Amino acid sequence: MRRSKISVIGAGNVGATCAHWAAVKELGDVVLFDIVEGMPQGKALDLAEAGPVEGFDGAFVGTNDYKDTKGSDVIVITSGMPRKPGMTREDLFEANKKIITQVVTVCVEHSPDAYIIMVTNPLDTMTYLAKHISKFPKQRVMGQAGVLDAARFRTFVSMELGVSVEDVQALVMGGHGDTMVPLPRYCTVSGIPLQELMPGDRIQALIDRTRDGGAEIVKLLKTGSAYYAPAASVIQMVEAIVRDKKRILPCSAYLEGEYGLDGIYFGVPCRLGKDGVEKVVELALNEEERELVRVSAAAVGKSIASLKL
Ligand code: APR
Repeated sequence: MRRSKISVIGAGNVGATCAHWAAVKELGDVVLFDIVEGMPQGKALDLAEAGPVEGFDGAFVGTNDYKDTKGSDVIVITSGMPRKPGMTREDLFEANKKIITQVVTVCVEHSPDAYIIMVTNPLDTMTYLAKHISKFPKQRVMGQAGVLDAARFRTFVSMELGVSVEDVQALVMGGHGDTMVPLPRYCTVSGIPLQELMPGDRIQALIDRTRDGGAEIVKLLKTGSAYYAPAASVIQMVEAIVRDKKRILPCSAYLEGEYGLDGIYFGVPCRLGKDGVEKVVELALNEEERELVRVSAAAVGKSIASLKL
């Protein structure tokens, strides 16, 4: 049986770390593409040489030639500028719009049947752009944001309560930005609602920290943005698709009426499997949650409109 082929465009911090997690999980053969000569080749070879030590098999190719991505099953797009301290994700709009337009155009020529997972920020807008350019069906173009945002919330809850991260489940909806919508009502610790374990003011503090989670890391790193948790989140989505796991994961998905939203990419719980975004799960949100979704959708809609497509 043929192994899955996973191409990662942009072999920088997020891209190379995606290749690392994909290799360790033996999700398939990995192609690392970048415009910088020698860098993806060096990283791919280095990763292959970790195989004997860690005990993973697979082919790892680094390249500056899109031909090597031909026939990919999954394409992860991380190419673009990361944030520097003081920048919002929206500040990356112009630079990354040009890069994503060019990258998606060439990628889909070589891999017309691929699933595209977007990582480049501003995430929901760049995912919309990728769908527009690829002309792929909505099930095959999605963005990674919610798994990461939920992972941050889960981390903070586990730190606060002194419990294993494995036992903390959480859901974050909305745009991947300042208006994201963490949903504490849907956060549980081994099935126990979070509200029974933590006072409301502490929950709110953790929500605020989650919203600023990306900026907190940018401020510490100073030269770029987060990559371990973003890459791990991407690879959870890749795994759900190539292993047809039917995971319910929050993803940036194209909405056509769900949650009363139409024609935008927005973070919502989805079922991910061999057919990509197989289903959007609609939750019965309360009035307060619906209002947060409205505010977030308006911000995402404004950013998408400025693509002027
Ligand atoms: N084609 C392919 N690769 C490109 C292109 C292009 N046109 N333009 C830039 N790149 C590559 C760069 O050479 C670099 O290696 O994209 C890579 C980006 O890597 P980093 O600068 O390390 O950025 P990273 O932290 O990986 O973030 C990438 O993900 O989380 C988001 O906001 C983040 O949009 C950013 C993206």
